[in-house]
Amino acid sequence: METLYKRLFAGIYDPFTSSFEKEIYKYRKEILADVKGRVLEVGAGTGINFQFYNKNVQLIALEPSPFMRKRAELKIPEGLNVEFLTYKVNDEKLEDIIKEGTLDFIVSTLVLCSIDDPGKSLHKFYRWLKDDGKLIVLEHIHSEKPMNKKIQNVVNPVWKKLADGCNLNRNTDILIKENGFEVVKEHYFKSTLRFHSGIYKKSQKE
Ligand SMILES: C[S@@+](CC[C@H](N)C(=O)[O-])C[C@H]1O[C@@H](n2cnc3c(N)ncnc32)[C@H](O)[C@@H]1O
Repeated sequence: METLYKRLFAGIYDPFTSSFEKEIYKYRKEILADVKGRVLEVGAGTGINFQFYNKNVQLIALEPSPFMRKRAELKIPEGLNVEFLTYKVNDEKLEDIIKEGTLDFIVSTLVLCSIDDPGKSLHKFYRWLKDDGKLIVLEHIHSEKPMNKKIQNVVNPVWKKLADGCNLNRNTDILIKENGFEVVKEHYFKSTLRFHSGIYKKSQKE
């Protein structure tokens, strides 16, 4: 049953997100423009970010769903090398592959809303990045409006089941800063939901 659901979710993902993707495209492009070196993309999904990478990045793409991966493989532009890993980001086996202080960039777009323990992941991101490494995030976050906030809280349990673990009511923008990162560049914007996008560096305080 779960396999069928995952297959269906991967199949409808691009058509379902196409309306707001038109609006958030420019933010993806902006935050990914200067990504270089050894890069980890967490939850690469159907590979929408691949088009924005410089061809010379050493890209590791984490994607646990085989149905998403299959679609992502079709979006790899000519000349871009992508190494796929099937682990979830908090899987301890990843620690054998990604050593501390070895990544130039970590990219997480529309994933921290779904990860079971995003604080744990952010802690790992901090460790895996080099001292001058950067975290790139685009995410939908909890509404600011009290009524919308309440609605999102009420709808969340059902939404989470339908949308492969996605939560409508996370304050990921705040969580990033609580886990050792500071802003290099950050935008807040509204589409169908409230979003933030940003480039973050390691705070030296940790
Ligand atoms: C909503 S999609 C976003 C895909 C893409 N990053 C984007 O911007 O459109 C979330 C993706 O993260 C993957 N995912 C969910 N939990 C994950 C985890 N714990 N570790 C790594 N990937 C995860 C899912 O399989 C899915 O492909």
